[in-house]
Amino acid sequence: MTNNKKLQANKLIKTNREYLKYSLDFSNENNLKISKNIIYQILIDVNNYKNYTDLVINFDKNLAKPNDFIKKINLIIDGKPLQYALGYSYFLDFKLKVNKNTLIPRVETEGLVLLTKSLIEEYKIQPKSIVDCCAGTGCIGIALGNSYKNSNLFFIEKYQRTIDVLNYNASQYLNNFLILRGDKTKPLLKYNIKADVFVSNPPYVDNLNTIDEMVLKNEPLHAIYVKNGIPFYNNFFKYHKLFMNENYLMVFEIGEDQKDALTKLIVKYFSDEKIEFQFKKDIYNKIRYLYIKGFGCKI
Ligand SMILES: C[S@@+](CC[C@H](N)C(=O)[O-])C[C@H]1O[C@@H](n2cnc3c(N)ncnc32)[C@H](O)[C@@H]1O
Repeated sequence: MTNNKKLQANKLIKTNREYLKYSLDFSNENNLKISKNIIYQILIDVNNYKNYTDLVINFDKNLAKPNDFIKKINLIIDGKPLQYALGYSYFLDFKLKVNKNTLIPRVETEGLVLLTKSLIEEYKIQPKSIVDCCAGTGCIGIALGNSYKNSNLFFIEKYQRTIDVLNYNASQYLNNFLILRGDKTKPLLKYNIKADVFVSNPPYVDNLNTIDEMVLKNEPLHAIYVKNGIPFYNNFFKYHKLFMNENYLMVFEIGEDQKDALTKLIVKYFSDEKIEFQFKKDIYNKIRYLYIKGFGCKI
């Protein structure tokens, strides 16, 4: 749904300071609750400033692209997330393209990457092949591929419009990568690809009531929601022997209420192997990650 209240171009104002005041006044008059921080971010973006300090130094300079500014503020008024209005989002050290066909990368997923890197170091793995399944923007694989430059990165994603963005992002940061279009682990089986490290943040939310309204309205539901919550993990666990090398590491982002269901799945699919597994907490102290380390032998 769009809002009929729109910020109009105004030839009487010119500077960044004036545009900040103009949009804040408009927001207050129309009860739109646009935060100052969002306006700062848009000013930084349209002026191509490096950061907030750059904006402060240039606050009384003329705004570089007033029409672009007005357009982006109006997207915010229409209820779009800032990252979609800007067209990009930051993930660790990477600036990634995003649009309505991609989930906006989350801080919890930065935690997933950091956990994966610490496990790779702890288990002294030298990954030659890393899979990012359900890749979206490619944030996980791009961050890992940049840390392990001798590895080949395989991205799996089901939707072509998402792949267009993924391909753009991966091309900015990686040399050795392949994007496989398909459902869950099927492409790995089809092309007989074996992984040392498999990481995934798949759709896992099974209760629509727990999804924030802003997310529900804007981000692709198929990126977040799946009936019963665990079908992706079920697929990864069930077929893991077909696509993981002998000494492997699998790391997942999970829902905070999925520990018991996933423990049952591990018992079901890994009980004849020597593995170590552990659930881990995110920065908000919620259980949001699971890793499984396989040692390539039977028990
Ligand atoms: C939770 S998002 C994660 C995106 C990205 N990895 C991240 O962490 O921001 C899940 C992604 O899985 C993709 N997806 C949904 N169903 C899929 C399927 N059956 N097979 C492969 N990918 C799928 C969605 O399009 C979406 O990009």
